[in-house]
Amino acid sequence: MTRRFLVGGNHKCNGNKESLKSLIEALNCANIPPKDTVEVVIAPPTLYLDYANTQINRDRFSVSAQNCYSESKGAFTGEISAEMIRDLALDWVILGHSERRHIFKESNELIAKKTKHSITQKLQVIFCVGEQLSDRNANNTEKVLDEQLHSLSTALSVEDWKNIVIAYEPVWAIGTGVTASPQQAQDAHVYIRKWLAEKVNEKVSSETRILYGGSVTATNAAELAQQSEIDGFLVGGASLVAASFITIIQSVS
Ligand code: G3P
Repeated sequence: MTRRFLVGGNHKCNGNKESLKSLIEALNCANIPPKDTVEVVIAPPTLYLDYANTQINRDRFSVSAQNCYSESKGAFTGEISAEMIRDLALDWVILGHSERRHIFKESNELIAKKTKHSITQKLQVIFCVGEQLSDRNANNTEKVLDEQLHSLSTALSVEDWKNIVIAYEPVWAIGTGVTASPQQAQDAHVYIRKWLAEKVNEKVSSETRILYGGSVTATNAAELAQQSEIDGFLVGGASLVAASFITIIQSVS
């Protein structure tokens, strides 16, 4: 089973309409591999989703929301729904990012509920997992991944998994410039793939793409991409810089 490489760009709470316009113009004319080789998804801040989706070359790129709620509508001030994301003709949402988990205190259960609801609304989900430094130092990395994946698996049918891309993002590597070594990333991806085979089934395990995120740069992307169990990247800071993000996309040989 060949898993198509996916490069996601998570802009977080950064940029403005002008910087996004420049980034999209650069992406639209970039010399990058074809879509059937590398899938590229950018996730600008919510306020700019519609603008990005009208400006970007949608034959080559997709636009993703960075989060959504678990309900279709209602008294949830400040939230957006999966239905609204679909209403903008977007196909993707990132859920469970470590910043949602550790800054905004989203539970495994809420993130799993959001994921199930998003899938019922025909969205594809980049589902983020990853341990904190304290977990790794206490040799609890696999325990944390197990808990995060277990909550997800209890919410999904086997069929649902075809709409899931997992992003392994060790929290200690996010925004720190301390990238996981290729071996560290590979080890975690191997564990996740083994977990999927044992707890879901072999087909889901072999078909689910597992992205690495955490200080991916134009310099380290090619070496990371060589790891057999790394099926792509979820890029933060470097995705805001056109030249860096384009080099990362090109890193897939
Ligand atoms: O979602 C991707 C993000 O968490 C990684 O951030 O800046 O370390 O690439 P960064």
